[in-house]
Amino acid sequence: MNLKKEIIIAIDGHASCGKSTLAKKIAQELKYSYIDTGAMYRAVTLYAINSGYIKNGEVDKNLLVADLDKIDIDFVYDNQLSKSVTILNGKNVEQEIRTMQVSDFASQVAVISEIRRKLVAMQQKMGEKKKIAMDGRDIGTVVFPDADFKIFLTASPNIRAQRRYKELIDKNEKVEFSDVLENVLSRDKIDSTREDSPLKLADDAVLIDNSNLNIQETLAVALAIIYERFGDK
Ligand code: DC
Repeated sequence: MNLKKEIIIAIDGHASCGKSTLAKKIAQELKYSYIDTGAMYRAVTLYAINSGYIKNGEVDKNLLVADLDKIDIDFVYDNQLSKSVTILNGKNVEQEIRTMQVSDFASQVAVISEIRRKLVAMQQKMGEKKKIAMDGRDIGTVVFPDADFKIFLTASPNIRAQRRYKELIDKNEKVEFSDVLENVLSRDKIDSTREDSPLKLADDAVLIDNSNLNIQETLAVALAIIYERFGDK
């Protein structure tokens, strides 16, 4: 079904509840672009790790912010993988940004206002032509407060940690379930309580709890609402 207008779809929600997968599938269905903004915060985090700006578990904000102009992030479509990959300063970092080490520090990097300003400006530019599904934590509240359709996705922490654990084990990462659960809980806490652009439910967002839904079912719920609201009947 076609939509009667070109729209911006904002998907926010808790860590590891399938926001990116949902956004990607919605974009595929509508032939829209898909932007994973978490990948951008992860790329900056990887830059900080590789530059030695994380010491004793703390990100050195001043050193990282001083380098902001040297951090170039892009998304490029990989024909072999049939998906878009994250490029940091000319290098494909799609795998590297998904490790537990990066996940552990990404929330700390994402509290830094100077970094948020740079990434938000890039994201707004990417959405200028509409026809986009973007996922993150502040898309419906800060990046596109006027987005045509907003989803807030969540699931119970235990279920989210189980999904993430399986993903990491499938990639041969050596992780303990308890560490993954702790990471999910601590990211939720930092993301929701930070001063700048905390994760919160936008007034006009549709809340979807997918604790008991698989990805196809979650997609069906989202598409039903999109077609109901914007379908060209
Ligand atoms: O969605 P993710 O787990 O890949 O995101 C990585 C980190 O970046 C996460 O701790 C939250 C943060 N983030 C954010 O603050 N704002 C966004 N729009 C996207 C992600």
